[in-house]
Amino acid sequence: MAQVTARTNWTIEDAHYDAFRAFLEEASGIVLGESKQYLVASRLGPIMAQHQLPGLGELVERLKRPGSNNLRNQVVEAMTTNETQFFRDVYPFEILRSHIFPDFQKRRVLQPRIWSAACSSGQEAYSLSMCLQEFNASGAGHLEAEIIGTDISAAMVEKAAKGRYRSSAVARGLSVERRDRFMTQVDADTWEVRPEVRRRVSFRVHNLLEGFGLLGRFDLIFCRNVLIYFSQDSRADILDRMAKVLNPGGYLVVGASESLARQASQYEMVRCPQGVVYRLRGK
Ligand SMILES: C[S@@+](CC[C@H](N)C(=O)[O-])C[C@H]1O[C@@H](n2cnc3c(N)ncnc32)[C@H](O)[C@@H]1O
Repeated sequence: MAQVTARTNWTIEDAHYDAFRAFLEEASGIVLGESKQYLVASRLGPIMAQHQLPGLGELVERLKRPGSNNLRNQVVEAMTTNETQFFRDVYPFEILRSHIFPDFQKRRVLQPRIWSAACSSGQEAYSLSMCLQEFNASGAGHLEAEIIGTDISAAMVEKAAKGRYRSSAVARGLSVERRDRFMTQVDADTWEVRPEVRRRVSFRVHNLLEGFGLLGRFDLIFCRNVLIYFSQDSRADILDRMAKVLNPGGYLVVGASESLARQASQYEMVRCPQGVVYRLRGK
């Protein structure tokens, strides 16, 4: 039996690792590779210490017990990757300005509902709001959007709702002009998103494996850099269910390195000079 001794001094047996992978996929959709024992050990080390668990087998056992919801959330949160930034990849926001918002304006979708799915600490949702404000200020039209950011991680949702970011996070993605226009400096190292950007944005905890019904219908979904962690089946299922909550003519934007598998036939590709987005196929 192969064993890996993690730097936290606990040992991961193959069977326990496999049971943990199964738990994580069932709870969050995240598929761990076959040899990520070191990642598991380093991410879970503090939780193991806090709960005085001697090994992964004991953790998996504990996770199966009734009433283990807090521990389950803690473990899932520790295993998520929350990397994000304002105006990430730039081009989707250029497509919003040049194509999607003008299309909404033309079709009189004047109050679009927008979903930032797996929004992490909120920069994507706020970037959408800033982009909309720029569109309105440009004189090209006037849209009153409602933007909902969701994430499986309660800690990320809490941070997103606060709308406060360190200077380093602000500098990653926001030009000085956008920073001064959309943020207020709170102290030497903290900036806060201004009320006029925040007023159309709200956040809530939501697991993409669960139903979307309570979120309502959308005209635009940003679902970026999360499906890469899931299996083909989960991806296909989520894309299928997203198609069901998109209004006719609604758009889906995925991550720069992601594309829709051919089986996602509900969507058609919209090629713009800046890149590709997807639109719900007409019936
Ligand atoms: C890499 S971040 C992407 C953030 C943002 N969409 C972007 O592209 O910058 C991935 C996010 O997906 C979230 N996540 C992972 N599994 C999830 C699930 N099953 N449901 C909802 N969010 C999930 C994580 O908590 C994390 O914040």
